[in-house]
Amino acid sequence: MLWRRVGALLSALFFTACVWQHNARTLLAAGGGAVDQRLPLVWSLRPSCAIPAASALRVTSERYLVYAPQFGHSNQLVSLRNAVVYSILLNRSLVLPHLLSHVGVWPRAAFGGAFDVRRAALPSLLHPLRVVEMDDFLRRDIRPAALLDLATATRFANTTDAYFASLGSGWQQLPHRRVPLPSFTPEAIRLALGRCDEHEVLAFRSLFGALELRPYASRAPKAGSFLAAIGWERSSALTVSMGSWSARHHAWVDRQAMPALLAPLPALEAVADAIGRYVRRGGREFGCLHVRRGDFEAECRRYVDEMRSLEPRGWVLSHFSRGWGCWQGDAAIALNLRRVHTLAEASGLRAVGFFAMTEDDDILNAAALQPFNLLSSRRALAEMRSIGALRSNSSHSTVAGPTPWDILAQLDTSLPHDLLFVLIDQLVCSRARVLLLNAFSTFSQMVLARIGLTHPDVLGWVRDITSSQQQDVGIELQYYRRVNPFDEETLL
Ligand SMILES: *[C@@H]1O[C@H](CO)[C@@H](O)[C@H](O)[C@H]1NC(C)=O
Ligand SMILES: *[C@@H]1O[C@H](CO)[C@@H](O)[C@H](O)[C@H]1NC(C)=O
Ligand SMILES: *[C@@H]1O[C@H](CO)[C@@H](O)[C@H](O)[C@H]1NC(C)=O
Repeated sequence: MLWRRVGALLSALFFTACVWQHNARTLLAAGGGAVDQRLPLVWSLRPSCAIPAASALRVTSERYLVYAPQFGHSNQLVSLRNAVVYSILLNRSLVLPHLLSHVGVWPRAAFGGAFDVRRAALPSLLHPLRVVEMDDFLRRDIRPAALLDLATATRFANTTDAYFASLGSGWQQLPHRRVPLPSFTPEAIRLALGRCDEHEVLAFRSLFGALELRPYASRAPKAGSFLAAIGWERSSALTVSMGSWSARHHAWVDRQAMPALLAPLPALEAVADAIGRYVRRGGREFGCLHVRRGDFEAECRRYVDEMRSLEPRGWVLSHFSRGWGCWQGDAAIALNLRRVHTLAEASGLRAVGFFAMTEDDDILNAAALQPFNLLSSRRALAEMRSIGALRSNSSHSTVAGPTPWDILAQLDTSLPHDLLFVLIDQLVCSRARVLLLNAFSTFSQMVLARIGLTHPDVLGWVRDITSSQQQDVGIELQYYRRVNPFDEETLL
């Protein structure tokens, strides 16, 4: 025990020394401009800002953190969580970027076009995190000194400045500054960037993959007892002037800030409710299937190549050895659905009506899938509409109150259509009892995240849901499995 403590102390000292040395090196390397007199000397024991000083010290009441959202919707939300942690660590207002559709920076919507960030209770729920939407921030006409490049490793895609360029302020022409952090732990982030007060704005090219938080849940099987142990309760204020990042901060981010920031607009919830009721009609259990194709074909091929390379990453190896599949062919989907139906029956569930999240409704026309009568959001809405029209003068109307398409019509029309349906699909599926998801897809993970967010006291923001957690929130989760190569009628 003692030795472990001594070891931890030594490694902490070593780590800190590395950061100081790192800062000194960065500052020397960046030394083209005027030397900032406040730079620490190498032997000084005060860590300093890891980026060169802005041109002049500006006295201001607020400092901001801006980042460019990169990649698809799921990855944008993953980056958002990182940005929340950075903003708390650095005590800066978080500028909420636009929600981008998964192809390029247009079309797009303000963050508040999908998430309810204008409700009155939000500031107290988020305290001490302060947020401002990008369009409001841009009206303040504040420019960063540079675009910061964290040395993150993203395997299959590259960071671009297209989003900054699309803001119309010429930010894409700002110099890039590489900020070499020794790691992405809260301590390293604070050491490198916590003393950058002369920078009114820190603008990150990407925060994807830029955070390492030790998972706390693994040490604490029972959420309730763990939360009691760390003295966290919902709506408890967080102090910023913390010495270090603790389990309490972690819980605050995942169980309070993320659920509050990502609460969908009531209109989106209402549409998802209506679709959910429709899928469950006749007393069926609600199942949700995720079919991911399109660009995923190339991605799945890369995972297979990675397996063949003999140096697969741990999670890729683990997914494949569990029999989980990436690419979803028609016949294999049918086998998987049959398996899930059998499992559901075995656990005493009634007939399961399956809702399918897919970018391409045509997949649902495949002959192999006809027996399952799969509904997507668009199909459910179209069917409900035709039934609603048929029954408009009877008392059997499927949907009470305004119809979902009335509600949809009232939404911010800037919300890109594909993104609108991505959000609705996630919300619909978060109401399902039985889920058949693709373990390789971050979009599938976001469905789990959404389920977690709707149960903040049990789960909060998550990327996976263990079997005991599934029991806690009343769902049965299966991952899509590969067909057995030796017997095409069965699954691995
Ligand atoms: C955090 O920033 C706010 C706004 O700039 C400031 O009022 C507050 O004192 C800061 N908190 C700490 C702990 O520095
Ligand atoms: C990312 O950039 C590297 C180096 O510029 C390039 O080799 C690679 O092909 C790029 N990857 C993608 C997915 O664009
Ligand atoms: C409304 O009811 C009348 C008779 O009661 C029927 O003829 C008509 O087809 C119904 N309209 C619709 C749209 O169902």
